Amino acid sequence: MNTEPPAAAPWWASAVVYQIYPRSFQDSDGDGIGDLQGIRQRVDYLAELGVDVVWLSPVYRSPQDDNGYDISDYQDIDPLFGTLDDLDQLTSALHERGIKVVMDLVVNHTSHKHRWFTESRSAKDSPRRDWYWWRPGRDGMEPGAPGGEPTNWGSLFSGPAWEYDEATGEYYLHLFSREQPDLNWENPAVREAIYAMMRWWLDRGIDGFRMDVINFISKNVRADGSLPDGPVVSGPYGDPAQGTINGPRVHEFLQEMQREVFAGHRDAVLLVGETPGTTVEDGLLFSDRRRSELDMVFTFEHVSLDQGPGGKFDRKPLDLLDLKATLGRWQTGLADSGWNALYWDNHDQPRIVSRYGDDGRYRVESATMLATVLHLHRGTPYVYQGEELAMTNAHFTSFDCYRDIESLRYVAQSRELGHLTDDQILASLAEVSRDNARTPVQWDRSANAGFTTGKPWIAVNPNYITINAAAQRAARGSVFQYYRRLIMLRHADPVVQRGDFTMLLPDHPHVYAFSRSLNGTRLLVLGNFSGHDQQADLGQSLGDRTELVIGNYRVPASTFGASINLQPWEALVIREPG
Ligand code: GLC
Repeated sequence: MNTEPPAAAPWWASAVVYQIYPRSFQDSDGDGIGDLQGIRQRVDYLAELGVDVVWLSPVYRSPQDDNGYDISDYQDIDPLFGTLDDLDQLTSALHERGIKVVMDLVVNHTSHKHRWFTESRSAKDSPRRDWYWWRPGRDGMEPGAPGGEPTNWGSLFSGPAWEYDEATGEYYLHLFSREQPDLNWENPAVREAIYAMMRWWLDRGIDGFRMDVINFISKNVRADGSLPDGPVVSGPYGDPAQGTINGPRVHEFLQEMQREVFAGHRDAVLLVGETPGTTVEDGLLFSDRRRSELDMVFTFEHVSLDQGPGGKFDRKPLDLLDLKATLGRWQTGLADSGWNALYWDNHDQPRIVSRYGDDGRYRVESATMLATVLHLHRGTPYVYQGEELAMTNAHFTSFDCYRDIESLRYVAQSRELGHLTDDQILASLAEVSRDNARTPVQWDRSANAGFTTGKPWIAVNPNYITINAAAQRAARGSVFQYYRRLIMLRHADPVVQRGDFTMLLPDHPHVYAFSRSLNGTRLLVLGNFSGHDQQADLGQSLGDRTELVIGNYRVPASTFGASINLQPWEALVIREPG
């Protein structure tokens, strides 16, 4: 397991986190949906891969409108996934292998079926009314009629961000689906209830939280209680960002959470915030240790570079120069006092090998190159289930294959607006639907890839016959074995953990190049983002004592001059000793 971290760096500088999306990981009871006992059957796989932390996407009680990101009871497990006892067993099994457990924390909103919301909704004078964002309709408009919403905000899952509730004649805010009403963090009783729930989980023995859209919790509310309209950029609704993202009290709330929940646990737990729409400046505020808020944040700029002005489903090709400029800015901006969470994939993003790589001829090469570049940055790398096998996008070709609420609502809205043909809608779903990441983990060649003996809740990718864990565990040179080596490298090498980052060749259109240095030792990292040979001219020749640390083509005996020819999707890490 992990070696003792160097005194100057927190333990997560030498750690790698593995994300499990339980619904798609391993089914143990044949209902076609992954569960906690299924994960337990696979803990040795996680130990073999070598990861230090497992982050579990939500397993709490939930109507599953957004696959568990709509929670109706924070202190119980959904029967789909098992019981609290199953979770305790899984936690012990992971702890026995030296792996920590991080739970998902979804507290910007609850499910509409949460008791807090049903009480809040029941009457205007309910003691919990103010636990959510209830507002009257727009002045002069008929309540419930289109345009009568309190603000013009669109929801992130299409349609307006407000739902009219006839019983009490007011609207409630839901930045996501109408089944996910936003909690009102202005109310101290809401915050105290959340903190109490978090303490309960810590007492149960979990090791941290991944905090869902945590930078949405403070809304930009005016003194009279009203909320501001947003600019209409594309589509029928206003952008809620200015009123909802990184609002005026977000840092105050997180610092309060630190005091109320994590006092005494500070260095034992891992706190990672999901923070869409966050700039480097905000990222620094969240992750600066001296401010005591979060340990690191998931940012979105590097996974938004292939989006057009129409938003997520409006696709354009990635320009590598943008990727380098973006990640480079985050590396520099957080170098002194912040910390980066490094990721390509998660349950909301398409598969990286299909997105920024080549999931055909160069699937193995491009997946290992992308992994090398990511894992050698300064920060804590996250591996999303199946990424270590270079699982690909689903390549679904019909609407009925899709399950994800965001995708289905996008289809409904696009058809209603009528600007796009069905083929155009299907083409963008095939590129970017969240379901691309949610097909079942491909364990072996048996029926349903070994994921379930029942009917899987979403189709298994037919390429499981060749792309699966059983084959890759046994094969030297597999993507799985390559990830193992990258994880071992992070555990062992202080330069990877703590070295300074310098971007090189920022204008090279196809080669991603940077160095990491610590106490005179330098690691040079090169990645060819193309299916053609590329020349990397480093301008200075490398000393004659260089050694190959890891690469996806070459053997350790390789020597390097000032100009290095890279083969298609080649990755190289070269050490120059001090
Ligand atoms: C986050 C989650 C996503 C979910 C949304 C609403 O972005 O990662 O899966 O749909 O929040 O909770």
